[in-house]
Amino acid sequence: MHVTDSTPPASRWLKLAVLYLLAAIALGVAMGVSANFTLRPVHAHVALLGWASLALAGLIYGQYPRAAASWLARVHFWMHNLGLPLMMVSLALMLHGITAAGGVLLASEGIFAAGCLAFAFNVFRNLGPA
Ligand code: HEM
Ligand code: HEM
Repeated sequence: MHVTDSTPPASRWLKLAVLYLLAAIALGVAMGVSANFTLRPVHAHVALLGWASLALAGLIYGQYPRAAASWLARVHFWMHNLGLPLMMVSLALMLHGITAAGGVLLASEGIFAAGCLAFAFNVFRNLGPA
């Protein structure tokens, strides 16, 4: 296992998660007030991939220090937190008919999914026996 000081602490995952919660709520309220639900998939994924998934990862890393210290946690952290904002912005553009954002959407989905793969690998490798 490769241990490094630069792996993000559990608190960093949780603080970012709360920021996504606020963004999701703002978007949810805006949709409700305007009665325009075009951005519903953005709201749903900011809430579930931003707030819920980041918080869950933070709690898991808090519970399993060996997984948190792995280089895989660092890969997960950066791919999740670079991929997701790009994915949400390009998805919002696509939903407004700006199809030129499709390439960025596809690329950011790939980045995000690769981060989740690193997470899955980390869980199986560093959580201990099932
Ligand atoms: C004050 C906070 C929130 C407001 C005002 C709000 C508002 C909304 C609205 C207006 C929609 C669209 C409904 C429709 O198109 O019929 C929606 C969908 C959704 N919201 Fe929220 N939301 C809030 C918080 C959250 C949170 C915290 C989560 C998750 C942790 C969440 C998850 C979802 C999901 C998954 C959908 C899509 C549901 C579906 O596919 O039918 N929302 N929300
Ligand atoms: C890279 C990963 C993901 C991609 C590319 C993706 C893609 C999509 C797509 C294309 C839709 C249909 C949107 C529409 O009907 O307009 C969708 C809906 C949805 N996805 Fe995902 N998804 C991903 C991950 C997830 C995860 C991990 C969750 C839950 C934790 C999730 C929860 C949902 C929900 C609740 C809906 C319904 C939202 C709505 O009604 O607008 N997705 N997703």
